[in-house]
Amino acid sequence: MIKSKSFFCSDCGNSTSKWSGRCEACGAWNSISEQGGLSSGTGKSSLGNKKGAKVKLTNLATDEPSPKRTNSGINELDRVLGGGLVPAMAILVGGDPGIGKSTLLLQAAGSFANNGLETLYISGEEASGQIRMRAKRLGLNEAPVRLGAETNLRNILTTMAEEKPNLVIIDSIQTIWADTVESAPGSVSQVRAAAHELTNFGKRNGISVVLVGHVTKDGQIAGPRVIEHMVDTVLYFEGERGHQFRILRAVKNRFGPADEIGVFEMTGKGLSEVANPSALFLSERGKPSPGSIVFAGIEGTRPLLVELQALVAPTPHSQPRRAVIGWDNARLAMILAVLESRCNIPFTGHDVYLNVAGGMKISEPAADLAVATAILSALYNISLPAHTVVYGEISLSGAVRPVNQAENRLKEARKLGFSKAIAPRHEKQIDVKDIAVAKTDDLMSFVLDVFEGK
Ligand code: TYD
Ligand code: MG
Repeated sequence: MIKSKSFFCSDCGNSTSKWSGRCEACGAWNSISEQGGLSSGTGKSSLGNKKGAKVKLTNLATDEPSPKRTNSGINELDRVLGGGLVPAMAILVGGDPGIGKSTLLLQAAGSFANNGLETLYISGEEASGQIRMRAKRLGLNEAPVRLGAETNLRNILTTMAEEKPNLVIIDSIQTIWADTVESAPGSVSQVRAAAHELTNFGKRNGISVVLVGHVTKDGQIAGPRVIEHMVDTVLYFEGERGHQFRILRAVKNRFGPADEIGVFEMTGKGLSEVANPSALFLSERGKPSPGSIVFAGIEGTRPLLVELQALVAPTPHSQPRRAVIGWDNARLAMILAVLESRCNIPFTGHDVYLNVAGGMKISEPAADLAVATAILSALYNISLPAHTVVYGEISLSGAVRPVNQAENRLKEARKLGFSKAIAPRHEKQIDVKDIAVAKTDDLMSFVLDVFEGK
């Protein structure tokens, strides 16, 4: 009889077929143990020669109605979820410590409870008294949410089985521990086991489960990435500590579109929705100044205008600095290289800094032309005319490429009072009234037109 066993490292999660004293992947000592089959309760994952039961197979065609969604009433949250909460949906909400996850989820718990869902809020981080105080501050103390302070997985599962709620929020998954797993709470194996049990229990019993996960930088405790594959929806709550704006971003959603964002503002009374994010992101912008330009972006299904700021400063160091906040470092290096080699603009001897205002993170390649414009405007110390937006992708050859949803970008720009756009040449004629589009298909001619020609 062939027995296949699996061992895995409780520190890094690497799995092997045999035990050893030291993990080959991360080098930790005494961290390898045999994987316990938690759900089966046998403690072994060996298949042996026992025969399995045949899986029940069905057809794709169905006349089942699509699942009934419940709205929280917080529009920014409902949209990111794909139009409300689906029964038995498993959601992971990740984010830096202190960014506002507990605040968001307490508000969500209150709203869902007010809309008729039996809601449990289990905190492993704060005492119930503390949460009640926060609820009072958020004006939620009348909401029928049931609170619990617990870290033991077994107790939580029993509570779920007896209370039969519609929604359980676990804050945070890194504090929960399963007594069947030997390593410390927060380790990869604990976080995985707890997330697996909770989501499975939720699926079997029709309970939606929200897991809060802290993003960790030092790797002492396991980050939420290790459980992303187990859940239906992964939301990240982003923002800069010094700013009041917070972005809830769907990076995975089995029940709706990914890439959708919800914008919130952290106030003294918790998070409030931002219905017009472009206006908010541009609200801090003063007069046009060198290095500052407005990018007409798209986030999910919505257009969003954000300010990009660049600074180009001479440096005596042989290795100049390139620092980016809110955009991709590698992409900045690429833009600089294209400007250097295709347009003969040297950046050696210059530090380059790029910042996306308001704590927003942009991942669209459509920001390329906007970044190049900001950098050139900073380098030549020229401010772009007010009421101008920029978008477009730049290729390595120096060509400026068309991007998607150009019409939506221009409409949003016009709505906010912008009258001019610097944009790629589109094959299709875009007709947006009252906005003059300076079209460009080549970075070199763009540089000459916009800067040297003036
Ligand atoms: P919290 O939700 O505890 O963060 P997380 O759960 O992600 O660790 O939020 C922490 C911060 O939010 C804290 O610094 C205070 C701030 N805050 C407000 O500004 N207003 C509020 O109404 C609340 C409840 C928190
Ligand atoms: Mg918290």
